[in-house]
Amino acid sequence: MHEFKFLDGELHCEDVPLRRIAEEVGTPVYIYSRRTLRDHYRKLDEAFSGLPHLICYSVKANSNLAVLSTLAAEGAGADIVSGGELFRALRVGMAADKVVYAGIGKTAEEIEYALRSRILMFNVESETELYVIDRVAGELGVKARIALRVNPDVDAGAHPYIATGLREAKFGIDIEEALSVYGHAALLPNVEVVGVHQHIGSQITSVEPFRESIAIVGELVKRLQANGTAIRFINIGGGFGIPYRQEEVPYPRDYAQALKPVLGESGCTVILEIGRMIVGNAGILATRVLYRKHTGEKGFLVVDAAMNDLIRPSLYGSYHEIVPAVKAEREEEIVDVVGPVCESGDFLARDRALSRAEPGELLAVMSAGAYSFAMSSNYNSRRRAAEVMVDGGSFVVVREREDYEDLVRGERVWVEPAGEDAASVLQPDITGGGTA
Ligand code: LLP
Repeated sequence: MHEFKFLDGELHCEDVPLRRIAEEVGTPVYIYSRRTLRDHYRKLDEAFSGLPHLICYSVKANSNLAVLSTLAAEGAGADIVSGGELFRALRVGMAADKVVYAGIGKTAEEIEYALRSRILMFNVESETELYVIDRVAGELGVKARIALRVNPDVDAGAHPYIATGLREAKFGIDIEEALSVYGHAALLPNVEVVGVHQHIGSQITSVEPFRESIAIVGELVKRLQANGTAIRFINIGGGFGIPYRQEEVPYPRDYAQALKPVLGESGCTVILEIGRMIVGNAGILATRVLYRKHTGEKGFLVVDAAMNDLIRPSLYGSYHEIVPAVKAEREEEIVDVVGPVCESGDFLARDRALSRAEPGELLAVMSAGAYSFAMSSNYNSRRRAAEVMVDGGSFVVVREREDYEDLVRGERVWVEPAGEDAASVLQPDITGGGTA
């Protein structure tokens, strides 16, 4: 369920017409529905009721502080992959003991930050990372709780860029090697083994890959528990798919139903690291038509949002529905919806049937709550879009549109040193003679 609906021919987010937000805040603008966020979180939570569980919202999907604080208030924890994401989670007051930390390239500095913050656990992705965590924890005089991220080698049917559970992926530890790495972990003085983690991919639209991988992970947990390893957490990762074009996808309760037998039997607390299912259909990108244009056989709508705002179509060939924010009876046409960036790969939609839109008209790019603003950039020195959160009949700008000063913050103009002496001080002689 989501809260983007037509009322009297106008697309609304909850009770606010998109047109009003666009007029007041400008375009392109991301618009999020707070009610949808909470509804999705609660549905997920309800589905897994009956099992001890913790939902760690995957911060990478949308890390806006207003999104994080809304979910924190619902009781969510966080799944993080960097010191920056930890900083954001702590900034909104998320309980550190509900934070889990994945990622194959954690630096010693990030590990120290996480240990000092007393996060719940690290999802460890290699044996060498385990040793670094043990060393840093030892230096701080604390114990690091860990789960190993195992790779169950199942095909989740996701786009190759977002499938993570196959053996050739860079993520996790081969399921065959897991027992021996757990054995090594048990010997480390500053590490406490508490869990098993998997994440098999994103935008998965069937429960089957989960059923398959959880059966494998469940067997591993049984063997570990039989060996006397106190596994208390099974982290099933994220990846629950959402409808991008009104297709049928499983509901949270379908996943819960399929997985409850194995998970319940384990006696473990279940951790879910869900991003897209919570936030994906809680957001849209509003953009205005700048120009209509024809080249050869092709028709283009040039809009004011571009690949720097929403890269998913360019990067993955992803489909995002596009609808006019104000309905009008017009004939349909087939167009590419493209942005102002100087790349042929800059498009939001290709060969799309849309009702004819004129310059100045407002369009909504749907299902743009997850991996959308979060993956935006300043390419072509474009200012990143504003973000707005709607709650009932009112809205708040939760991230200002960047201004030109934001674009150059931290940069320096190169200043030529004044005389010859100054130049030699700045450029020491690297042939061994010191400064000339
Ligand atoms: N846990 C781990 C370890 C992950 O790597 C991810 C996502 C998640 C949880 C959350 O997955 P979700 O529930 O959101 O599917 N940029 C891509 C998606 C990349 C997903 C990366 N990892 C896209 O736009 O489709």
